[in-house]
Amino acid sequence: MTSDEKTKKEIKIRAANVDFFYGATQALFGITMEIPAGEVCALIGPSGCGKSTFLRTINRMNDLIARTRLTGEVLLDGANVYDAATNVVELRKRIGMVFQKSNPFPKSIFDNVAYGPRVHGMRNREALEEIVQRSLQRAALWDEVKDRLKDNALGLSGGQQQRLCIARALAVDPEVLLMDEPASALDPRSTAKIEDLIAELRGDYTIVIVTHNMQQASRVSDTTAFFYEGHLVEFSATATMFSRPEKKQTEDYITGRFG
Ligand SMILES: Nc1ncnc2c1ncn2[C@@H]1O[C@H](COP(=O)(O)OP(=O)(O)OP(=O)(O)O)[C@@H](O)[C@H]1O
Ligand SMILES: [Mg+2]
Repeated sequence: MTSDEKTKKEIKIRAANVDFFYGATQALFGITMEIPAGEVCALIGPSGCGKSTFLRTINRMNDLIARTRLTGEVLLDGANVYDAATNVVELRKRIGMVFQKSNPFPKSIFDNVAYGPRVHGMRNREALEEIVQRSLQRAALWDEVKDRLKDNALGLSGGQQQRLCIARALAVDPEVLLMDEPASALDPRSTAKIEDLIAELRGDYTIVIVTHNMQQASRVSDTTAFFYEGHLVEFSATATMFSRPEKKQTEDYITGRFG
């Protein structure tokens, strides 16, 4: 191995020439990109450009939508997630997801976080309690809820519910977190908490986040991918993207000239 290869970053997620179709309509065109392990990658671009579609190709959530088709490859640690041998349940355990609209189950705070571990067969009460506490601590929610774990999760504020959903995702020990506009429905204070949390989780998890907020992308991410009409127009280090974008289209978008 040359020294150059040694310093090369470990790639967690690699998309290779991904085309994606909803019925006859093509939504992604030849997407190729690499996301290093432990980094945060922001997906930006105007509404309808394919950000959520691309995010969902990574954990095969698009499989749940009828008449969709993907060609190309999406690799997790070098293995194609679309291989016939892939266990999709196991894949989604490794790749957690958080949505724009927080979606806690109408259950207690405890049961929300314990849900995933239970589905995967964990029955030991003490072990579950430990996982719930650790996950809520990692999601920066523990101090606010530790005295009311039996309360219904729907009684939490919007920002707390979103952090609960992050705790629920973390409880099964994922390697990757996909976040689709996780803070866009939140007030500035709750948004700041989510951003702090992303900074905290960075390194331990590989995070892919969709955001319409350019400041947020530049604050939280290492790399940024600019999508436009289903094409990946530019993919680079975030600092570079926001100071010296290569393409005119990128510059116009990030300076707010369209989108
Ligand atoms: N379930 C679906 N069935 C059919 N077409 C879809 C479906 N979901 C998305 N599309 C289409 O695919 C294209 C990309 O949509 P997508 O939701 O990925 O965009 P986006 O970049 O996430 O947009 P936004 O910023 O508004 O969330 C759009 O033309 C959209 O209409
Ligand atoms: Mg979207």
